[in-house]
Amino acid sequence: LLGWGFYMFAEMGDRVLETETEIGNNEGDTNSLPIPKLLKDRNPDPDVAEFYLEAQHATKEFFTGEKTNTYGYNGNYLGPIIQVRNGEKVKIKVKNELDDPTTVHWHGLEVPGEMDGGPHQEIYPGQTWEPNFTINQPAATLWYHPHLLHKTGEQVFKGLAGLFYIEDEVSDDLNIPNEYGENDIPLVVQDRRFTSDNQFDYNIGMRDMMTGILGDTILVNGAIQPSLEISEAKVRFRILNGSNARIYNFYLSDDMPFYQIASDGGFLESPVKLSNLELSPGERAEVIVDFSKADIGDQIELRSDDFEVMRFKVKSKNNNIDLPQELVKINKIPEEQATVKRSFDFQGMGPMVSINGKQFNMERIDEHLDLNATEIWEVTNSASGMGGMGRMGNVGHPFHAHGTQFQILERNGQTPPPNERGWKDTFLVYPGEKVKVIAQFKYPGMFMYHCHILEHEDAGMMGQFQVGSGK
Ligand code: C2O
Ligand code: CU
Ligand code: CU
Repeated sequence: LLGWGFYMFAEMGDRVLETETEIGNNEGDTNSLPIPKLLKDRNPDPDVAEFYLEAQHATKEFFTGEKTNTYGYNGNYLGPIIQVRNGEKVKIKVKNELDDPTTVHWHGLEVPGEMDGGPHQEIYPGQTWEPNFTINQPAATLWYHPHLLHKTGEQVFKGLAGLFYIEDEVSDDLNIPNEYGENDIPLVVQDRRFTSDNQFDYNIGMRDMMTGILGDTILVNGAIQPSLEISEAKVRFRILNGSNARIYNFYLSDDMPFYQIASDGGFLESPVKLSNLELSPGERAEVIVDFSKADIGDQIELRSDDFEVMRFKVKSKNNNIDLPQELVKINKIPEEQATVKRSFDFQGMGPMVSINGKQFNMERIDEHLDLNATEIWEVTNSASGMGGMGRMGNVGHPFHAHGTQFQILERNGQTPPPNERGWKDTFLVYPGEKVKVIAQFKYPGMFMYHCHILEHEDAGMMGQFQVGSGK
């Protein structure tokens, strides 16, 4: 398909994997934030990237002296960061060393359906999958995770997830923190529940069916409520809500201000000053925290609702750059260009969750789209209209669709808030809400749309759309 050869993986052994890609290890006496490794590009051609990813089972000490059974990519929990450039040709060899089938989905990436890693691209134990594609979208913080039918929640919960960065000329040239691991820090925020013998507790009860699994232990990059030493006045954090179901409402102690500079699919037009940031499962936000007003020695907590997520220890405050007022120009997709309108209504609760009254069926294509069509989608959540179950069934659903990035036209008839005026692939819809979005569908194939509360997705709150007539 693409006229370039596949670099040799013959030398890949466990030793190489460990030294090159194992996630930063937190199993010591200090509880500092682990910084995931950047995955090594094995092709020297600057226009071509080749990566090796292995889904494996392992153990990890979340609690000193106690081993928890985990999954990870090239390591024992989570995965390395895949970093690519816009325009680059990318080939990824994915090996499944688990005892179960899995898939690897590139969440937010605009690629043809067969490369998307949804439930149709199963990788059986011992097998490999080798997707290849050309990056054709602006700088953004995306992520990857399994998408196995009915098992996505469990496989993510055990540790399978990683970040996927796209860089481009804009991200190179902007005067924002961009030194990976120094002042440009990934934060994968997850909540987990453990059994009394320190194993992941993924036994789904009736309440979990309603809300999705909510854990009582917060992990950031795989460490429980870690801390990070701050040595610069302005630090960029790329936050992924990698939780199965928990919606966070992040804020900083001492009313520290922060600025959101990017949403799911790339930079916002200008930084948005925030005092709190709501992020539902699957969503990402890049923020810059201004530590210049903090005192040396201060400890600033990142919090959500009543709990601490992690803390920042201010050691010094060098490099107090001025944030650019303009980040990027986002061309609005003209509404007149839209040829089709569709509606998607989240309904039901618990095991009865559905979209437009239907539960997922892999044999059924729910929507047919023309290749390159521009469409307007209206997403509603009518769960609040259902009596009987009280508040528990009354949850917000994060809507996500594969293979494209949306622009939000309206949230409840209004212009969306400033931090939702950029590219979005996942957006939260509370009961009674209506979110109207527009997108172009530039890649052919079969794609999923679903609720990103993974227990809802696995229970059937998912549908599929085919773009173009072929496969
Ligand atoms: Cu984050 Cu269908 O996925
Ligand atoms: Cu996705
Ligand atoms: Cu849901």
